[in-house]
Amino acid sequence: MKKRYKILGGLVATLVLAIVASLAYLGHDAPCASAPPPAADTPTMRAITFRCYGGPEVLRVETVARPALPDDGVLVRVHAAAANPLDWHYLRGTPYLVRIDAGIGAPKLPSLGVDFACTVAAVGKDVTRFKPGEAVFGGRTGAYGEYVVVRESRAIAMKPGNVSFEQAASVPIAGVTALQALRDKGHLQPGQKVLINGASGGVGTFAVQIAKALGAHVTGVCSARNAELVRSLGADEVIDYAREDFTRRAGEYDLIVDMVSSRPLRATVGALKPGGTLVIVGSLDTGHFLGPLKRDLAALLLAPFVSQKLEPILASLDAEDLASLADLMRSGKLTPAASPRKKTKSASTGQRHKQRHAAPLSTVAPVSGNSPDKKIAAQKTVAVAAAAGADEAGSHPHQHRARRDCGRGGADSGVAERPPGRRGD
Ligand SMILES: NC(=O)c1ccc[n+]([C@@H]2O[C@H](COP(=O)([O-])OP(=O)(O)OC[C@H]3O[C@@H](n4cnc5c(N)ncnc54)[C@H](OP(=O)(O)O)[C@@H]3O)[C@@H](O)[C@H]2O)c1
Repeated sequence: MKKRYKILGGLVATLVLAIVASLAYLGHDAPCASAPPPAADTPTMRAITFRCYGGPEVLRVETVARPALPDDGVLVRVHAAAANPLDWHYLRGTPYLVRIDAGIGAPKLPSLGVDFACTVAAVGKDVTRFKPGEAVFGGRTGAYGEYVVVRESRAIAMKPGNVSFEQAASVPIAGVTALQALRDKGHLQPGQKVLINGASGGVGTFAVQIAKALGAHVTGVCSARNAELVRSLGADEVIDYAREDFTRRAGEYDLIVDMVSSRPLRATVGALKPGGTLVIVGSLDTGHFLGPLKRDLAALLLAPFVSQKLEPILASLDAEDLASLADLMRSGKLTPAASPRKKTKSASTGQRHKQRHAAPLSTVAPVSGNSPDKKIAAQKTVAVAAAAGADEAGSHPHQHRARRDCGRGGADSGVAERPPGRRGD
């Protein structure tokens, strides 16, 4: 008996050691490598890159190989790119589980950014849906570079004429997440009551408008300073989270879409009607090990004991949903609440020369917010804008050039090889 306990104790200790060692391995940060020079004869571009994990200080502007154009690919010259919490997770390499995909110790791919809007520069020979010169928006890793290549069947759609490039660039990740949360996970029906927790954020501002377009009664939860914005997006009711705890409204909602997980899980579920649905989109938890995944795990454990459905979501960018969002924008039912280019401190002194030679990118934060994630994203946006050369007054020195370049059509074709697969493709 004693021997059996000893063996069991040994096994448990080994398991604990193995977990600790794996986490330490997963969490270690390699030093920042320098960029390898692009091969001779390779067309190049400038891009905002990161070659080690860290904060905005690890971002750089580098000359890198321009992505090659495959036969079914669309080459776009990026005009506007958005900052999302996702970019922050990849930049930081947190939660550490992200590194299994992104690279252990240092990022496998130095490219950053996903959401973009621009005009098509060139298309591969098999492409039928897009032509050079057309305005598009979509998602592809590397959107903080001058060019991205997206396969025709992936996350790219025509930009509606009634929204700006900056507005369109704020749509892909946040808009698709909101749509999939309400429609696919929440199965929202006309007349139902939905609560959007984090209504003033990137995802929330789209969720409020899409829920209204689907005919729901919408309650948005946000700070007092953003209450007017959320009301203007169509919310029937707005709760200031500093003054009221929405979970006190027991059994009130058919659906809760939760971007912040700011209230205990049990209490949040208590605000749902029996049989209602909680869609877990995100969390304020920025912990390194599990971070926002803690909420998903808690939901997995609680689900068997409640009548409500608990649905974590991992949104996936696709052309069909981008096209649906474009239709909503065209009809006027969806207006991206994107703030214009960030005012940055980047113009100070030594940055001025860089500005004149910087990548023609403008960065745009979906909306202003004050969650830790948003602060982080905003901080990053500032750094990205700084690296790209946005000026102090918020206007971009390359704005006009960027627009002209965007419409330059097929002049940028002539690239032959396909880059290796990346996230966001
Ligand atoms: N699962 C997925 O596939 C997926 C996809 C996209 C995003 N996400 C996640 O979803 C989350 C939200 O993303 P986002 O782009 O919308 O971020 P965001 O723009 O930073 O928005 C977060 C919003 O939360 C609000 N907020 C902060 N504290 C709050 C509280 N105590 N109660 C209610 N609201 C509060 C803020 O509102 P105020 O400014 O008014 O304070 C802010 O506008 C992030 O964690 C992100 O990682 C997940």
